[in-house]
Amino acid sequence: MNIPVFKPLIDKKTISAAVKSLNVGWLGMGKSVDEFEKKIKSICDLSQKYVVAVNTGYSAIHTALMLMQIKKNDEVITPAFNNIADLQSILSVGGKIVFADIDKSLCLDPLKLEKLITKRTKAIIVCDYGMNLANHDEIIRIAKKYKLRVLHDAAHSFGSIFKKKKIGSFSDITMFSFDPVKTITCIDGGAIIVSTKKERDLAQKIRLMGMGQPSSVMYKNKRAWTYDVEVHGYRYHLANIHAAIGVSQIEDFGKIKSTRVKTVKFYNKNIVDHVFLVKPVLGKGIVPFIYFLRIKNNLREKFMEYMSKNKIDTGIHWQPANKFKLFQKLKNSHLIETNKVAKEIVTIPLHSNMQLRDQKKIVKIINNFFKYL
Ligand SMILES: Cc1ncc(COP(=O)(O)O)c(C=O)c1O
Repeated sequence: MNIPVFKPLIDKKTISAAVKSLNVGWLGMGKSVDEFEKKIKSICDLSQKYVVAVNTGYSAIHTALMLMQIKKNDEVITPAFNNIADLQSILSVGGKIVFADIDKSLCLDPLKLEKLITKRTKAIIVCDYGMNLANHDEIIRIAKKYKLRVLHDAAHSFGSIFKKKKIGSFSDITMFSFDPVKTITCIDGGAIIVSTKKERDLAQKIRLMGMGQPSSVMYKNKRAWTYDVEVHGYRYHLANIHAAIGVSQIEDFGKIKSTRVKTVKFYNKNIVDHVFLVKPVLGKGIVPFIYFLRIKNNLREKFMEYMSKNKIDTGIHWQPANKFKLFQKLKNSHLIETNKVAKEIVTIPLHSNMQLRDQKKIVKIINNFFKYL
């Protein structure tokens, strides 16, 4: 069997949490969701913020854009080097995508940001990448100058620290994803981190098709039989079983983080230095999500083939969105770094419980590839 790019850590404890949840007899949103939100709040130092769990990262982004009141023809700036969820969410609220370029961090380039701002710009979506964090200080400064909202897509940076502050604690609105391959998984899940009670209350309604829930039933494994429908909403709530899995994962976060950090350090130390190869830099306080290499000189496809022949899977995060049929008409001539990076980037396996045997094999095969160039 090939070594996969992703492999979640599902141990006996997580399985037993799922079984226990099924045995409770309440399968909808309830007590476990409350517990999960509290765990996120505590592990991410969010005492000044509010956490609303939802059923996917996409739902979190879509809900966040509704909270920001992005409407038809409002412009939202975000990198083309991005996850499709950000772009589809902008379309879901009727907004217009404005592609931004990235810098060496592979995140939104703040130096090229101001040029993209127009009278119709309402928000910026900034995305952390792999084990890199965006230049948040500078992006927040620009957003404040032009009175723009910022959605921080932190699907890749759960639990990381930016300049002594935990991810989620300093942004206008932050989203997390807990999908099947993320550092922490609920199988599928997401969360929005907001700064006001008003936005928390609205997000709680949006996730339940607009229905308000009194505190006598919310998170109590109960449902209200009389309620009002106050806003346009979606079916975005998280079920107890997903939250229970998430709680169990967060309890193992120390182990997950240290194995990932150790593996990245092993790769960085043992993968050869070569003119056609750029390795990532692991910053202090980072919980790495993916390990990416940049393979120069148009050698990426040959590298991926070689890895595959040697039973090691590789991936591409991401194809640039400006190449997709749906987005080809959007302005893209300025995406210089995006187009360069997109040809070079490749993801190699990084798991939450990675065996040293697999790490050694991967390093050996990569080094063999570069030896004969
Ligand atoms: C950066 C980023 N944003 C958003 C998402 C969407 O999250 P989900 O898959 O939970 O909908 C992902 C998922 O891969 C992601 O990597």
